[in-house]
Amino acid sequence: MGATGIVGQQFVRLLDEHPYFEVVGLTASDRSAGKMYSSTEWVVGGQIPDMAKGLLVEETRLETILRHDVDLVFSALPGGIAYDIEAALARAGLPVFSNASAHRMDRDVPILCPEVNSQHIDLIQTQDYGEGFIVTNSNCSVSGVVLALSPLMSYDVRDVFVTTYQAVSGAGRHGVASLDILSNVIPYIAKEEEKIENESRKMLGQLGDGMIQPAEFDVCASCARVPTINGHLESVVVRLGRPITAQDAEEIMRQFTSVPQRLHLPTAPERPLIVLSGSDRPQPRRDLSTGPGDTGMSVKVGRVREKCNGELIAFFLLVHNTIRGAAGAAILNAEFAKARGVIP
Ligand SMILES: NC(=O)c1ccc[n+]([C@@H]2O[C@H](COP(=O)([O-])OP(=O)(O)OC[C@H]3O[C@@H](n4cnc5c(N)ncnc54)[C@H](OP(=O)(O)O)[C@@H]3O)[C@@H](O)[C@H]2O)c1
Repeated sequence: MGATGIVGQQFVRLLDEHPYFEVVGLTASDRSAGKMYSSTEWVVGGQIPDMAKGLLVEETRLETILRHDVDLVFSALPGGIAYDIEAALARAGLPVFSNASAHRMDRDVPILCPEVNSQHIDLIQTQDYGEGFIVTNSNCSVSGVVLALSPLMSYDVRDVFVTTYQAVSGAGRHGVASLDILSNVIPYIAKEEEKIENESRKMLGQLGDGMIQPAEFDVCASCARVPTINGHLESVVVRLGRPITAQDAEEIMRQFTSVPQRLHLPTAPERPLIVLSGSDRPQPRRDLSTGPGDTGMSVKVGRVREKCNGELIAFFLLVHNTIRGAAGAAILNAEFAKARGVIP
C-alpha cells in the first residue's frame, strides 16, 4: 500500500527477487489507481523492476487487497490514511507490516527493530485482530537513534539529546517546496520531536505482563529539515550512569550485532553500525553507502567523543531514511516474523 510514494518505491525495489516475498498487488491513491505501475515517476534510483512494470496500480481498499489472496501486506501510506485500512486488514486475518505512524503508539502494537527489541514481537499476542496483526517500524530518525543506543544500554542510559539534520525525501514525494528549502534550514518538522522522544523510549523499553514499560531515560529532540536529498544526519549526546571512554563506546558500537545477523536474515546488514574514522564523517552525500555490499541498512556513526569523564558520550550518526528508516526496516521485520514462525 502506498506503492507509488518514495517509501513504496523502495519497497518495490527491495522486494524485487526477494527470497521469501513476491509482490502480487500494488495500491496507491485514487490519483494513481488504474494506471500501470510502469508510469510511476521513479525517484529511488535504478529502473522500475520488471516484476512491477506490468502490475496495475489499484485503489487502497480492503476488498481490492483481499481479492489478491495475499499472505501479508506492507504499508507505506500516510499516517492519517493508514489507521483504518491497516486495522481492517489485520481484522481480516492479514499480517500488516507498516511504516506509518498511525498505530505505532498503540499499547498492543510493537515498534519493532529486531536488532534492538526482537522480543517485542510477542506483543502481537495481545492484539485482538484474530489471525491478523500489525507490526510497525519506527520513524526514520528513531531507527538510527535506537540502533546506536542499543549497545550502550548496559551503561545505564539516563538522558538522550538528539538534534537532526533531515533530508527532504523524509517528507515524501511532494513533501517540501523547493522555495522553502533551497539555501535554507527549517528548524521544525511537525510531530517529529515527539516521535523521537516517545518511540525511542517504547522501543528500548521492557516487555512484561503483555505490555511495554518504556525505558526510563529522558529524550530531548530538536529537528531540522536541511537541503539534502537522502539520509538523516543526527547529533546524539547520551548521559550515562556508568561512564565509558569514547574509545570503548566506539568499539562497542563497532562490534554490535544481534538477532537478524545470527539468523542471517536476507535484508540484515552484516554490521548494523558502521563506525567511520574520518574526522569529518559521516556525511549524507558520501556515506549513505560505504560500498557494493552496503544496501543502506547500516547506520553510520562517527566523531564519537567523551565529555565529563565519560558520563557524556557524543557522536553523529547517519541513517538512510527511506531504507533503514522505512522500507528496509519493514521488510526486515517481516523476515524476522517468518524466522520466528509468526508468519508461514
Ligand atoms: N520518506 C521517509 O523517509 C519515511 C520514513 C519513514 C516512514 N515514512 C512513512 O511512510 C509513509 C509513506 O511515506 P512517503 O515518504 O513514501 O510518502 P509519499 O511519497 O507522499 O507517498 C505516499 C503514498 O501514499 C499514497 N496515498 C496518498 N494519499 C492516499 C490516500 N488518500 N489513499 C490511498 N493512498 C494514498 C500515495 O499515492 P499517490 O502516488 O497516488 O498519491 C503514495 O503511494 C508515511 O506514513 C511516512 O510517514 C516515511
